[in-house]
Amino acid sequence: MARKQIAAANWKMNLTYQQAQSLLDELFAHKIELSQDQYIALGVPFPYLSLAVDKVKNLDHVGIAAQNCYTQKSGAYTGETSAEMIASLGVQYVILGHSERREYFLESNQMLTEKINIALANGLTPIFCCGEALSIREANAHNEYVGQQLQESLFHLSADELKKIVIAYEPIWAIGTGKTATAEQAQEMHAHLRKVLADQYGLEVASQIPILYGGSVKGSNAKEIFGQPDVDGGLVGGASLKADEFLQVIAGLK
Ligand code: 13P
Repeated sequence: MARKQIAAANWKMNLTYQQAQSLLDELFAHKIELSQDQYIALGVPFPYLSLAVDKVKNLDHVGIAAQNCYTQKSGAYTGETSAEMIASLGVQYVILGHSERREYFLESNQMLTEKINIALANGLTPIFCCGEALSIREANAHNEYVGQQLQESLFHLSADELKKIVIAYEPIWAIGTGKTATAEQAQEMHAHLRKVLADQYGLEVASQIPILYGGSVKGSNAKEIFGQPDVDGGLVGGASLKADEFLQVIAGLK
């Protein structure tokens, strides 16, 4: 079977409830044509998860993602949201380790192992984010740095567990800046990450893991980026907040 292709949205902390309703209605006003291996995942804010699950419940290949979950199962953690709560709503995915969470909420590779574990234990598909800052790329240390993020957060998993993970490579210098990695830069990193996975788990496993690109993806550049052999779709911020733009991104899946 061919590898999954995923157009994933990350709404981040945007939109009111009413705006979220309108965006979902606009997105699904017409049937979206998806081939057998193509999927859509919508990362919406926590308060809108139920709404979003309900809106897509009759749509094949469309799932909802939370943007985070806590490391612990339950208990006295005021303000946190557990993987079990998220899964109990019918949510399929959880975005973990986004660079904004690493930067503002000090999420470490180690903490992310716990989030990955609890997400998997609750049947959620983690969309594990990785990516380097500009200074690291300028020092030509990006391959090693991002490889290490995978190693430290994922390599405790068995091969069967790893096969449930989606990876999103998001170079920090390309997020929200309008400056995308070139298709070649994306392909080079994605091929590197697949090799890192293959060295640990074998080619057969590595070839099944979707690796998405994120960072200023929009309707006009999606097709070229997603067309690279090791790029299996995208994780899209700003351009996922407008229905017509995100529909164009979806149409860019190969
Ligand atoms: P932009 O698409 O707005 O650059 O954001 C990318 C991102 O961070 C998705 O998680």
